[in-house]
Amino acid sequence: MEHLLNNRVKQIEISGIRKFFNMVSEYQNVISLTIGQPDFYTPEHVKVAGKNAIDQNFTTYTHNAGYPELRKAAAQFLKAKYNLSYNFETEVITTVGASQAIDIAFRTILTEGSEVILPGPVYPGYEPLIRLCGATPVFVDTTKNGFRLTAELLEEKITEKTRCIVLPYPSNPTGVTLSAAELIEIASLVKGKDIFILSDEIYSELVFEGEHSSIAKFIPEQTIVINGLSKSHSMTGWRIGFLFASEYLTKHMLKVHQYNVSCVSSISQKAAYEALTNGIDDSNRMKEEYRKRRDYVYNRLVNMKLDVVKPNGAFYLFPSISQFGKSSFDFAMTLVKEAGVAFVPGSAFSDMGEGYVRLSYAYSLETLEEALDRLEGYLSIKQ
Ligand SMILES: Cc1ncc(COP(=O)(O)O)c(C=O)c1O
Repeated sequence: MEHLLNNRVKQIEISGIRKFFNMVSEYQNVISLTIGQPDFYTPEHVKVAGKNAIDQNFTTYTHNAGYPELRKAAAQFLKAKYNLSYNFETEVITTVGASQAIDIAFRTILTEGSEVILPGPVYPGYEPLIRLCGATPVFVDTTKNGFRLTAELLEEKITEKTRCIVLPYPSNPTGVTLSAAELIEIASLVKGKDIFILSDEIYSELVFEGEHSSIAKFIPEQTIVINGLSKSHSMTGWRIGFLFASEYLTKHMLKVHQYNVSCVSSISQKAAYEALTNGIDDSNRMKEEYRKRRDYVYNRLVNMKLDVVKPNGAFYLFPSISQFGKSSFDFAMTLVKEAGVAFVPGSAFSDMGEGYVRLSYAYSLETLEEALDRLEGYLSIKQ
């Protein structure tokens, strides 16, 4: 009966990150730096808010977009942190993680034949959802430009069919952030065209130097901002994301959301409210830890003579391994078998990630040190 299934669904694959992670778990004594999940616990006061929600019987459906106080807190958070203005009554939707926000945004703005421009290498969560809509991903190669998307690179790829540009900064897998000046150039290029910007800002609270800038500041009516608490508040399992956009977009996205999930778990919503009010700066403590780790891992990789861009956000590094003459998958697999250390092959992040591996530093310094010792030991034998 399998032949009867939707071809688009049959053709997409599970993410290369997961595939590799599953493969690695079959090997013994491997230190894995493969997962993009904070290694901190959810802040205590947020956990208490979740428990209280259950005890106080806040366990029913809520408004489809999330209960109003939560949306208000989310809008205030964006205003306080990034100076973005959204009306909580009409322009904010609470979603099941950033993942569901991406899905409902694409399903609302894309139709058959639409083209979506993405800067490669890129997080693998977008392409399959674009394909499920019958749309086509178009990749811009950013590898020659320090992984930065520019208005110039973008312009070459824009066609009549372009409906959306994905701006995933701070970036997974490269950690690169774009400055306000770079975003203004992109905004000027796109302004007035029939193109939406999907700005995935899930790592916005993890920017090390300078402030996070959102393109929504410069082109609000064409931008859909995606954010959430998975990374900033170490709440991946609570599944809390947000969509912010003009009402003419949210009123349609909300229908997709409604028929998809009705609403996000009421218990998670209460925890999210606590995070966005009393925990507005919770991420600072984690960010300082990440900064130390970033500096440590970056310096070690540079000392190993690996070519790597110093990241300014998120918790990843994306060194080149092209000098070793192997595909990124074979190189990563060899490291697992011969060095006992696992990184994600760059090819999991589109063809443009070929020749790189991704290291996540959402791990303790001790774990990072041991993993890098193993890498260094292996490389010193090979050179
Ligand atoms: C760039 C990016 N967007 C979205 C997500 C998904 O976030 P969530 O767990 O909130 O669905 C991730 C998770 O790794 C990510 O790296």
